[in-house]
Amino acid sequence: MGLIPESVIEEVLTRADIESVVSRYVLLKRQGGNMWGLCPFHSEKTASFSVNPSKNIFKCFGCGKGGNAINFIMEIEHMSYPEAIRHLAGLYGVEVPETGYSGESSQKEERDRVKDILKEAAKFYYKAFNDESTGKPARDYAAKRGLTKQTLDNFGIGYSPINWTALYDHLKQKGYKDEELLNSGIFAKSEKTGKPYDLFRGRLMFPIFDSFGTIIAFGGRALGDEKPKYINSPDSLVYNKQNHLYAMNFARKEQAKQLIVVEGYMDAIAMHAAGFKNTVAALGTSFTDSQLKLCSRYAEEVVFFFDADAAGQKAALRAIQMMMEYLKKLTGINIRIRIAKVPDGKDPDEYIKTNGAEKFKDVVKNALYVEDYLLARAKDDNTDPETGELDRGRYQKDICIYGSWMNDEIKMSRMAGVAAPLLGATSQAVMNQMIKFQQAEEKKHEQQDSRALERQRIQDIAGRNKADMDINALDEPVEVAPSQPVFKKVVDTATKDEIDLFAYALSLGNALADSKKIDKTDIIRPNDFSGDTIRELVRIFLNIFDGRNETLFARMSDYFSKLTINGMPAEDVMLKAVENADRSSNVDIKRDMYLALLFKVRTSIIDREEENLISRRASASDEEKAKIDEMLRRLSEYKLTLRNKIGEL
Ligand code: UTP
Ligand code: MN
Repeated sequence: MGLIPESVIEEVLTRADIESVVSRYVLLKRQGGNMWGLCPFHSEKTASFSVNPSKNIFKCFGCGKGGNAINFIMEIEHMSYPEAIRHLAGLYGVEVPETGYSGESSQKEERDRVKDILKEAAKFYYKAFNDESTGKPARDYAAKRGLTKQTLDNFGIGYSPINWTALYDHLKQKGYKDEELLNSGIFAKSEKTGKPYDLFRGRLMFPIFDSFGTIIAFGGRALGDEKPKYINSPDSLVYNKQNHLYAMNFARKEQAKQLIVVEGYMDAIAMHAAGFKNTVAALGTSFTDSQLKLCSRYAEEVVFFFDADAAGQKAALRAIQMMMEYLKKLTGINIRIRIAKVPDGKDPDEYIKTNGAEKFKDVVKNALYVEDYLLARAKDDNTDPETGELDRGRYQKDICIYGSWMNDEIKMSRMAGVAAPLLGATSQAVMNQMIKFQQAEEKKHEQQDSRALERQRIQDIAGRNKADMDINALDEPVEVAPSQPVFKKVVDTATKDEIDLFAYALSLGNALADSKKIDKTDIIRPNDFSGDTIRELVRIFLNIFDGRNETLFARMSDYFSKLTINGMPAEDVMLKAVENADRSSNVDIKRDMYLALLFKVRTSIIDREEENLISRRASASDEEKAKIDEMLRRLSEYKLTLRNKIGEL
C-alpha cells in the first residue's frame, strides 16, 4: 500500500484549476482579481465566497472554509482526501497509479470492515428468507405484495429471523468484534448486559446500496401491522441517509435523461418491476439538496411523486422551495423539476397493481413542470370547494411566494401570465409584485443569516473559553507580544478571526471608544495579528482612529488597495468583512462580537506565549524563573479579565 505520489497530486492541482472546479457548483462573478459567489457550504444571500484564480484557492469569509480544489471537492462531495484526488483526476484526465489508499488510516479500514459486515448480513438475511421454514412468513408476505422471485433477487431482499441475536451470533462466529458490529448500525446495545443484539427482527429486509452497488444500510418492513412499519439503519460510518437514494445503483445504469423519485421502498421496487427502472426512492426523509445533486449527476429531469395526503403535499411544497433555492444558488446543477400525481390518492405501487404499467406511463407523462404545479396549487388551495370561488387576496399572496422561488425570469413571467387574468391585472403588474416580494425576502434572509451566524459565533467563543479557563482573578492587563519569528519576507496571511476582528473594529468606528465595556486595553493593536500586511493596516487604522471618525474605511481605502491579505487585495477582503460586520443588528451585538473575537485572538496568542514561557522556565535560573512566573501570572490575569467580559455577553 502506498500513497498517491506527490507528483500526481501536483498534476491534479495544476489541471483542475480552482475556477473551473468551483464553477461546476457555484455561479461566480468577477470582481477585481477574484471571483465571488454564494457559499455552497453555508446558507447566505450575499456572496462571501471567493475564488482566487492566481493562487488557485477558494475561501469563504462567511463560514471560514477555504483551500485548494481538492479541499473543495472533499467538502462538497463528502469525500476523503484520496477520493477527492481520484475524482478530480478522473475529471481532468490525470492518471493515478493503483496504489491503494494508505495514509488513509484506520478510518478507511473501519469503514471497509463495516461494509464487510453489512454484506455478510445481507447474505445472512437472504439465506434466512429462502430457508424452507425460517423464511416462510416472509415469503408469504412477499407473495402477497406481488414480488416475484426475480424482483426479490434483484433487490437482494431478505428476512431477519425473530431471534434477538441470530445475526449477532452468526457474525461473531465469523470473527467480528462487538465494537465493529456496533459501528455497522444494525445492532443495538443492551442496557442490561452491554451486549449487542439485532436491530432488525422478524422483518422483510431491504438492503440499501450506494450508487455503485455497495451495501451501506438496511430498511426492514414489518410483516404485519405492528409498529413501526419500517425500521431503517441509523447514519453510520458508511451511511448518511441524506446523501443517498434507494435504487440509484440500478437507476443510474439506465442512463435515462429522466429520474423518477418516489417516497417508499415498495414503490421503487414496484416501479422497477413494471419497467420504470429509472426510479429511486427518498430514504424515509424529506428530499435533500444533496439528493438533488446526486440526481443531477445522472439526469436532466426529475419527476417527483409525493404522497397524496395533506402531510405529503405539505412536504412537496417544502421540498420544492428547498430545490428552487438550491438551483438559484448553484450553476453546476441544471435540472428540470416536475411534479406528478397518482390519481385517487394512491401510491405508485398500488396504482400499478390495479391499473398496470401502461396507464402509469401517462401518469408520468402528465407530470407538471414545477411552475405549473405551483400555479395549480395556488389556485386549488384558495378555491372554495363548495362555491368554486377564488379567494383573490390569498391567491395573490401564494403566487408572489411561489414566484419568488423561481430561478429565472422566464418561469416567473410565465407564472405571472397565467395568474394575471385571475387577478384581473396585467402580467407586468404581477411580475413586478413577484420581484418586489423576492427582493424583500432576500433582504430578510440576509439579515437572518448574519444574525444567526453572529449569535452562534459569540456563543461558540464564549462557551468554549469559559470551559477552557479557570484561573485566579486580578486586574491589571499586560502588553502581550506574540511569539512570532521575524520574517524577512512580507507575510500577508491573516486568520478569519483576525480579519473579522479588524472588520468589527472598522465597523464600530467611534463606538469602539465610546463603549463602557471596551477599555483602552481592549482596542486592537498590531501585535494581535499574525501577518505583516494586516499589522500594517491596523497600525494605519490606529493612527487615523481618533474615536470620532465615521468614515474610517473610506479614508483607509488607499492603503487597502496597495496591500494583500491571504493573496487577495486587502480591499476586497476587508470590504467583505466590514460589510458583514455592518449588517449586525445593533451596536451592542457588534461590540460583543468584537470583544468575543478579540478574546479569541488574544487567548490563542497568550496560550502560545505561555507555552513558550513554560518551556523557557525549565532551564532558567532562579532569578529568571521568578520573572517568568510573574509574567505567567499577569498573562493569566489578563485572560481572566477578558474572560469576565465575555462572560457578560
Ligand atoms: P409509507 O407509509 O407510504 O409506506 O412510507 P409504503 O412505502 O407505502 O410502504 P408499504 O407499501 O406500506 O409497504 C413511505 C416511506 O417512508 C418510510 C419508508 O422509507 C417508506 O418506504 N417510512 C415509513 C419509515 O421509514 N418508517 C415508517 O414507519 C414508515
Ligand atoms: Mn405503499
